[in-house]
Amino acid sequence: MINIALVVLAAGMGTRMKSALPKVLHKVASRSMLGHALSAGAALQPKTTVVIHGPDMAAVQKEATYFISDCKFAEQKERRGTGHAVSMAQEALQGFKGVVLVLYGDVPLIQTESLKLLLAKIDAEHPMAVLGFEAANPTGYGRLITSGSNILAIREELDTSPDEKRINLCNSGIIAIDAQLLWQLVPKLSDNNAKKELYLTDLVELAVAENVSVALALCDEAEVAGVNDRQQLSGIEQQFQKRYRAKAMIGGATLVDPTSVFFAADTIIGQDVLIEPHVVFGPGVTVSDGVEILAFSHIEGATIGAGARIGPYARLRPGAEIGACAHIGNFVEVKKSKIGTGAKANHLTYIGDAIVGAGSNIGAGTITCNYDGYEKHFTEIGEKVFVGSNTALVAPLKIGNGVNIAAGSVVTADVPEDALALSRAPLEIKAGWAKRYRAVKAVRKAEKSKV
Ligand code: UD1
Ligand code: CA
Repeated sequence: MINIALVVLAAGMGTRMKSALPKVLHKVASRSMLGHALSAGAALQPKTTVVIHGPDMAAVQKEATYFISDCKFAEQKERRGTGHAVSMAQEALQGFKGVVLVLYGDVPLIQTESLKLLLAKIDAEHPMAVLGFEAANPTGYGRLITSGSNILAIREELDTSPDEKRINLCNSGIIAIDAQLLWQLVPKLSDNNAKKELYLTDLVELAVAENVSVALALCDEAEVAGVNDRQQLSGIEQQFQKRYRAKAMIGGATLVDPTSVFFAADTIIGQDVLIEPHVVFGPGVTVSDGVEILAFSHIEGATIGAGARIGPYARLRPGAEIGACAHIGNFVEVKKSKIGTGAKANHLTYIGDAIVGAGSNIGAGTITCNYDGYEKHFTEIGEKVFVGSNTALVAPLKIGNGVNIAAGSVVTADVPEDALALSRAPLEIKAGWAKRYRAVKAVRKAEKSKV
């Protein structure tokens, strides 16, 4: 096994994004682009990872650390090109022996498999390899000048001759290079080019000049598409979703209308899961086998047990743990709550900061009143509890097993096992009142219309 060090370029603010947020923190499938690149690289178990960021990018450091806890950082103060950016990693990589893999923070769809293919090209005769692709439209990309299976040079768009412009084989930007060779060549980079930048791509010609061969690995164009503006961001999102929907279906989920279902990068979907149209998954969702998610549901940070039924029009928020075979129906919101096996909340309900025991039934319009304007409070509902419709459960509150709560109650005190809780204004019935009322109103209306 060769040692690998990841260097991820993330210094650009991305002016065309028109955003206060650094470009690499924009999200694809609820995960930052930087997170996507780091996840693809982390799967190779690198010895070290260095993220190159621009000035004032504490948020980039925080995000990278979330994915790679011992990630190192180097600041590129001035944007002087990709070669200059990589050279910023030299100090952090002091003493590292092995292969440096350069990834771009704004190329989120890259797959670990392609990185493995690239690394597999590295051997004693090829201490450097470039990940290339056949571009449908090569404009804007660096072109690969090849001889047989080796690369002789990479020519940037602005520096290409008319002949070279016709080359479709392009540079993804992702390269693997022996660390010793990298630090030997980097000082030789010059900014004698159209952009007056230190191009990482010039390493190829510098290597060839020293009789070092540079290998080529190929991947799909879709994997190495980069993001410079928000239209490209949405294009990448579409690509990701297409890929993830296919993965979910291959894994045994039925998607009635795949194009209307949106997954997060970390969504886990079991087998025999049915997902109806217009379902959105935010981050942190695990769906067990046999779950049905009906149309127009929004789910994030939730775990859904086997055989549960969610929706239509359900909202599961972070910390929702839905037990096996439970039902969460239309216009029901669950936040930071455990719903027991087989429990049901079928209509128009808010359950927040609560436990609902197995087999309990939560009637329509029930609200756990968990917030007093300052603090959140907990509601504990036992097993086989029947909560009548339109009940307000004022937390903190503990409802014992087998309790019945009468419809319309406002429950402000704990209720012991098997008791009935009922709070209701007395009901009055006035015989004939409605008929008299209609008669009076009809006369008044007739008088008004005469005037
Ligand atoms: C680069 C490649 C080109 C390739 C293309 C693939 C070079 C010179 N060119 O061109 O061959 O086809 O990517 O998309 O490498 N960055 C920094 N600091 C800098 C400059 C760039 O961190 O000083 C980062 C950017 O934030 C970005 C990445 O490096 O993540 C690529 O830079 P960019 O300017 O987009 O390069 P391209 O012109 O697209
Ligand atoms: Ca680019």
